[in-house]
Amino acid sequence: MKVHSQVEALLRSGAGWSLALLAVTAIAGEPPAAATVAAAPAADPPSITYLLYCGGCHLRDGSGTPPEVPTLHSQPGIIEAMPGGRDYLIRVPGAAHAPMTDMELASVTNYLLETFSSDTLAEDFQPYTAAEVAAYRRNILADPLARRAEILSKAR
Ligand code: HEC
Repeated sequence: MKVHSQVEALLRSGAGWSLALLAVTAIAGEPPAAATVAAAPAADPPSITYLLYCGGCHLRDGSGTPPEVPTLHSQPGIIEAMPGGRDYLIRVPGAAHAPMTDMELASVTNYLLETFSSDTLAEDFQPYTAAEVAAYRRNILADPLARRAEILSKAR
């Protein structure tokens, strides 16, 4: 079918679903308002936000490239439960500066903890909220490595 192949061509060209949807509605002769509604994307799932804004450095599987970029496996789960650890995880520049809303940063941090650090995550872990993230990220760490060492030193 013609419409179908046009949409497929759009998708193959990497135009993405919103554009393909717009195309479907446009081709089908719907008014633009309907197309806009149809194409309005729900917030991206955190797995996608992670790949877009974090995976470049921390890698798709969260393993990072230690020592420069820390792994997100196991350690963030431990840090979260330590005094000062919860805000530290949000205040690292890569997270705090990320071009995403407070809600998205909360979701992506919950996602990385539950995905890569589930082995160490506290049983009573409370997911980050947007309001909490908003407060933490205002105070970006100038020296994250020093802060990290300080948090971990208090554990022993
Ligand atoms: C430009 C590379 C880069 C990007 C992009 C990046 N990070 Fe990072 N991240 C780092 C580095 C480097 C560190 C180590 C602390 C530092 O020097 O900032 C780090 C540390 C962290 C830590 C603390 C881990 C620990 O064990 O101390 C968390 C949590 C984190 N990043 C989350 C994220 C999230 C969430 C995103 C995406 C929204 C993200 N980062 C994007 C480079 C990056």
